[in-house]
Amino acid sequence: MVKICCIGAGYVGGPTMAVIALKCPSIEVVVVDISEQRIAGWNSERLPIYEPGLDDVVRQCRGRNLSFSTEVHRHVGDADIVFVSVNTPTKTCGLGAGKAADLTYWESAARMIADVSRSDKIVVEKSTVPVKTAEAIEKILAHNGRGVRYQILSNPEFLAEGTAVQDLFAPDRVLIGGRETPEGRAAVRALKDVYAQWVPEERIITTNLWSAELSKLAANAFLAQRISSVNAISALCEATGADVAQVAHSVGRDARIGPRFLSASVGFGGSCFQKDILNLVYICECYGLPEVAGYWREVIRINDYQKSRFVNRVVSSMFNTVAGKKVAVLGFAFKKDTGDTRETPAIDVCKGLLGDKAVVSIYDPQVTGEQVSRDLAMNKFDWDHPRHLQPLSDTDLAKQVGMAADAYEAARDAHAVCILTEWDEFRGLDYRRMFDAMHKPAFIFDGRNVVDVAKLREIGFVVYSIGKPLDDWLKDMPAVA
Ligand code: NAD
Ligand code: UDX
Repeated sequence: MVKICCIGAGYVGGPTMAVIALKCPSIEVVVVDISEQRIAGWNSERLPIYEPGLDDVVRQCRGRNLSFSTEVHRHVGDADIVFVSVNTPTKTCGLGAGKAADLTYWESAARMIADVSRSDKIVVEKSTVPVKTAEAIEKILAHNGRGVRYQILSNPEFLAEGTAVQDLFAPDRVLIGGRETPEGRAAVRALKDVYAQWVPEERIITTNLWSAELSKLAANAFLAQRISSVNAISALCEATGADVAQVAHSVGRDARIGPRFLSASVGFGGSCFQKDILNLVYICECYGLPEVAGYWREVIRINDYQKSRFVNRVVSSMFNTVAGKKVAVLGFAFKKDTGDTRETPAIDVCKGLLGDKAVVSIYDPQVTGEQVSRDLAMNKFDWDHPRHLQPLSDTDLAKQVGMAADAYEAARDAHAVCILTEWDEFRGLDYRRMFDAMHKPAFIFDGRNVVDVAKLREIGFVVYSIGKPLDDWLKDMPAVA
C-alpha cells in the first residue's frame, strides 16, 4: 500500500487529503500538523473548518484509510509521498516585509523531512510558493540527505474555499511540475497515477517545475485582476449612471472574456489573492522587472481603493459622521459558505467605521465573536502570527463592537446596514421588518449586490449598491475616496 503523508492540516491539506483518501481506497493517507488543536478538530465531530460536503467525505474515510495525527516525524518517515501544505504568509518583518512570502514554515518542514527520512521520497509542494522554491528545497534535502534520494514536484492547489470539495472532485485541471530527468519523470508519473484514479487524463497537465510554481501565482493574479477590473468599472458606473451588473453581463458574453468572476464587490479577500500578488510583485522586483511589478501592484491598489471607497460612501451619506451611530454589518467571512476571515474586506470596512466612531453590530452565520475580536485587533498581514495579539476586549475599541444572533438583532435601532458577505440568507431577509426597527432615514449599503434595490427603495430605505445607479440622496452626498 502506498503511503501519503501531508504536512499541514489546514484549509488545503485537510480537504485535499480527504478527497484523495476517498477516491483512492488503496492509498493510506495521514495528515499531520504541529497544532494539536487543529488535529483534535479533524478527529472530532466538529471539523476545524466549515466547508460544504466536507463532513461527509471525512466521515466516509476517517478510520479507514485517512487519519489525522500530531506524530509528524513517524508518519513523514514512513511515507512514500510527502505533501507539504503549510502556510506561506506574507513576511511581516525583515527583507521583503509586506511583500515577500514567509517561507519559515516551509523551510522547517523541509528540514524536518531531511531529519526523519530513512527511505527515498517524493516531496510535493502543495503550498503556494515563490517560483524557484523547489530549488531551495532540493538544496536543503540534498545537503542533509544522508543517502536518501528525493524528487521534488510542484503540485499547486486551485481549490476555492466554499466550493473546495466540488473543486477537488472535478478540478478544471491538476498541475504537476517536475524535473525533466528520468527520475523526475517517474515521480511525475507516480503522482499522476494518484490523481488519475478520478481525474480524467486530459485534465492532468505536466510541466517543468518552474512553470508549475509560476502558474499558480499567475492564475491567482489573473483572477484577482478580473475583480479589480470590474470594481474599477463599478466606480465609473456610479459616476455615470451605468449599472455594473449590466456592463459585466455584456462584457462577459464575449466568449473570449467569459461570464465568471466578474461580480463587483466591496473588494476581494481571502488568504491567497493579496498574498500571492504581493509575492509576484516582489519576485518581479527581484528579477529587475519594475514595470511588471507595478502592473500587478495596481490590482491590490484598486482593491484597497474599493474598500475605502465603500467606507467613505457610508460615512458621507450619513451626513459625514457615524459617531455613536449603530451600524449593522451583515457578513464578516471573506465570501459565502466559509467561516474563513483571512484578509476579509469586512476587517478594513469595520476598522474604517470604528475609526469614525461608529458602534458596529456584526452578524455572520459562520464567524464567532472571538474570531471577529482577533481580526479587528490585528495589524495587516498579522493573521498568521497570532501570538503577537492583544485581545480586542483589552482595548477601548471593544465597546464599539458587538455580535448579533441574527440580521434582525443587528439591525434593531441601527441607522444603517452594510452587507459585506454574499450569504444566500441575506437575499431572503424581511427587509420591511428591519426597516421598521431602524432609525430614519434608514440606509442600506450593499457591498455584494445581493439586494433588490428597487424593492428596498419602495420600502423607504436609502440604498447604495456597488456600481448601481445612485439614488438622489447619494448623488447629493458625493464620497471622495
Ligand atoms: P492553513 O494556515 O490553514 O494551514 C497550514 C497548516 O500548516 C497549519 O495548520 C499549521 O499549523 C501547519 N504547519 C505549519 N508548519 C508546520 C510544520 N512545520 N509541521 C507541521 N505542520 C505545520 O493554510 P492553508 O489555507 O491550508 O494554505 C496552505 C498553503 O496552500 C498556502 O501556501 C496557501 O497559499 C496555499 N493555498 C491555499 C488555498 C486556500 O484556499 N486556503 C488555496 C490554494 C492554495
Ligand atoms: C482563490 C482562487 O479562486 C483559488 O483558485 C485559489 O486556489 C485560492 O484563491 P478563494 O480565495 O478561496 O480562492 O475564493 P475566490 O472564490 O477566488 O474568492 C476570492 C475573493 O474574491 C472573495 O472575497 C470573493 O468574494 C471575491 N470575488 C470573487 C469577487 O469579489 N467577485 C467575483 O466575481 C469573484
